[in-house]
Amino acid sequence: QVSCYNSVVGKLDHTFTGQTLDEHDAQPTEAETAVWNQVSAVLEEAHGILAELQSYNGAGQEIREAIQNPGDLALQEKAWNAVCPLVAKLKRFYEFSLRLENALRSLLEALTSPPYAPMQHLEREQALAKQFAEILHFTLSFDELKMTNPAIQNDFSYYRRTISRNRLNNQQLEAENEVNNEMANRMSLFYAEATPMLKTLSNATTKFVSENKTLPIEDTTDCLSTMACVCRVMLETPEYRCRFTNTDTMLFCMRVMVGVIILYDHVHPVGAFAKTSKIDMKGCIKVLKEQPSNSVEGLLNALRYTTRHLNDDSTSKQIRALLQ
Ligand SMILES: *[C@@H]1O[C@H](CO)[C@@H](O)[C@H](O)[C@H]1NC(C)=O
Ligand SMILES: *[C@@H]1O[C@H](CO)[C@@H](O)[C@H](O)[C@H]1NC(C)=O
Repeated sequence: QVSCYNSVVGKLDHTFTGQTLDEHDAQPTEAETAVWNQVSAVLEEAHGILAELQSYNGAGQEIREAIQNPGDLALQEKAWNAVCPLVAKLKRFYEFSLRLENALRSLLEALTSPPYAPMQHLEREQALAKQFAEILHFTLSFDELKMTNPAIQNDFSYYRRTISRNRLNNQQLEAENEVNNEMANRMSLFYAEATPMLKTLSNATTKFVSENKTLPIEDTTDCLSTMACVCRVMLETPEYRCRFTNTDTMLFCMRVMVGVIILYDHVHPVGAFAKTSKIDMKGCIKVLKEQPSNSVEGLLNALRYTTRHLNDDSTSKQIRALLQ
């Protein structure tokens, strides 16, 4: 198993634990600047996206009334007017996922480019490592909110049904200019995923390693397993833990750890749960379960239901039992 104890954790722990303290923010070096600026522009929007999703209430009531009174045109119009701005929001979230995907690509390229080994990259490019962590943190937070908000799919399917009914009646709806049929198809694939953002990232990571044939797959997976190790050690070691300024930092480490495990499991041919895995899965699950946080169960569920290899024969009984 990759040991990250001394070299990387010692350097990255300040970078990570300073997550909510701007004065501790890792400053990019000159070599990192171009990628850092690109990713930074995307991350700047992330807060707003999460806030918007958090306050997403849906049009359940209006939709219900419209369906129960199909002959009442005023109610149909009311529901439609409530749903349209929500669908515009959903479109913004979806478009953001595409920008996030590009940002991840740039980071993967930078963090795996020759001649350095993954561990060296993480040591040299801490500002990028931190952005990578922030992307995962956003991703897991987004998916957690999405999973607990059934209104999203309800609103979107009402929107699609209304559009297709009107198309049958040869009525062109103005809203179609905003979300055309092709966009609606792509959005509905996106929102049909239980964890759409994470799925976007794992698809993108898989694509990245398959497109870069000259790059050994281990360069990417070692980068992921090293990040998992950094987070695990920070969570389980008292000296590091006591530097966590608040529960946000702990949650940050937990989410990043789970995020990189899931990416690793999607990208690595035998996955994260096999004996040969470079991630100490037992250690990661144990430390996760020890955290006093409401988010633990959701993160364990992410490991249970969004990984690829958990149910393989090569997964040890012990790991299975830990996740039961
Ligand atoms: C990966 O592939 C992309 C596109 O094919 C290329 O631009 C990039 O330089 C490659 N990166 C590495 C590390 O090989
Ligand atoms: C991920 O890739 C699969 C297979 O190519 C595809 O069916 C799915 O829609 C993709 N999901 C996202 C969110 O990009």
